[in-house]
Amino acid sequence: MNRYKIEGGYELFGKIRVHGSKNAALPILAATIVNGGKSIIHNCPDLSDVSSSLEILKFLGCKVQRDGSDIFVDSSCLYERDIPPSAMCQTRGSTIFAGALLARCKRAFIAGSGGCCIGLRPIDLHLKAFREMGIDVSCTEMGVLCRGAQSADAEIVLSFPSVGATENIMLAASSYSGLTVIHGAAKEPEIQNLADYLRCIGVSIIGDGTEKIEITGTSHPCDAEIDIIPDRIVAATYACAVACSGGRVEVCRIAPSLLSPYLDALSSMGMSVDVAKDSFVVCKNHRCRSLPLVSTAPYPGFPTDCQPLIAAPLTTASGVSLVEERVFENRFGHCHRLAAMGADIDISGSTAVIKGVERLCGATVDACDLRCGAALTAAALGAEGFTYLAGACYIERGYENLFSDFTHLGAKIERIE
Ligand code: EPZ
Repeated sequence: MNRYKIEGGYELFGKIRVHGSKNAALPILAATIVNGGKSIIHNCPDLSDVSSSLEILKFLGCKVQRDGSDIFVDSSCLYERDIPPSAMCQTRGSTIFAGALLARCKRAFIAGSGGCCIGLRPIDLHLKAFREMGIDVSCTEMGVLCRGAQSADAEIVLSFPSVGATENIMLAASSYSGLTVIHGAAKEPEIQNLADYLRCIGVSIIGDGTEKIEITGTSHPCDAEIDIIPDRIVAATYACAVACSGGRVEVCRIAPSLLSPYLDALSSMGMSVDVAKDSFVVCKNHRCRSLPLVSTAPYPGFPTDCQPLIAAPLTTASGVSLVEERVFENRFGHCHRLAAMGADIDISGSTAVIKGVERLCGATVDACDLRCGAALTAAALGAEGFTYLAGACYIERGYENLFSDFTHLGAKIERIE
């Protein structure tokens, strides 16, 4: 497992550009199955989760080429076969292939699903929606077999605005020429990016980005070309690093409005945040203040993926902060590791009580999930002494070059195995 040595105490200065969004790229890559033709995807990040999706596309018989951040997919020759469990468990993004396979092949076998260990990650909302679309869903101990095409108009009410369920419904409905309506849909920007791709292949979609999405599929999809939106969580991660280590960094190629809850939180902590149309500058001139309460919520609320990224700087803020996780049931792994670095954190149910200390101390820690790894790296940049971080493979799932990005900004990070 890759390990890194991080020497704390170096402020960050400079400019950094945000790469394409993992959580936009994964559903769009799955969607390239639907049109049975060519897709060109620009600004696709080079991540291990993206590589896993490209391997699934190749396994299914698609031609796949990468030229820098451009991906070329030709899904005209698709083998009708099930994705093996070994591939399905690699990433959460594999679950989204179900909707795309149903649209194209009228069959999908979901043999487990991957994703960070931040909760049970069930797919009951996905399956309930498929049944309401007239798809036959049968659960076996090996996995879930979904058969048949959508056979009637459907009005689906999601009891929780699940990102994955919203995406899977949009994909499964994309080849049904009737009307599918989703009430209580997820409103994340990544949903809108997927909708843009589906509109490119000929699907009619209105309401993406709101809680009600209406989809009218097409039986004659066409070739498509799309730009992946920038990754708002990666942008927040760069800001988090400045909040932990000090300095002044300009984060480019990102609309600040995509992460405004996070930037607003940093402002409330006393950070200087200056926004422009397609970039922002964060600067830390003094010790941060605590926050009375941060609660995660579906978009446009405070993103759960940013919860570890606000907990990290709060560990050295002056005063007591409360961080409430209301989306996933097991997303405080980073708190235990931050405590090993000297943070004073008590977990009570879904709330972390963080009492700010003067400074963290370097320690030997292991990332337990993607955003935990990012938060620990940021915390280590501001800590006293050396931190030895294991589990960098988690970080590579969602960040192209996080360690070299931070080094470029002045951090002292060395890969030790
Ligand atoms: C997506 O996961 C993202 N992953 C996650 O990002 C992100 O944290 C999450 O959305 C919320 O924004 C990708 O897009 C690949 P959900 P997803 O379905 O789709 C419950 C990262 O770090 N739920 O919105 O799995 C579920 O248990 C990752 O980049 C059900 O109960 O999230 C959770 O508590 C982490 N039944 C809540 O809903 C279901 O059928 C949100 O899950 C589906 C979900």
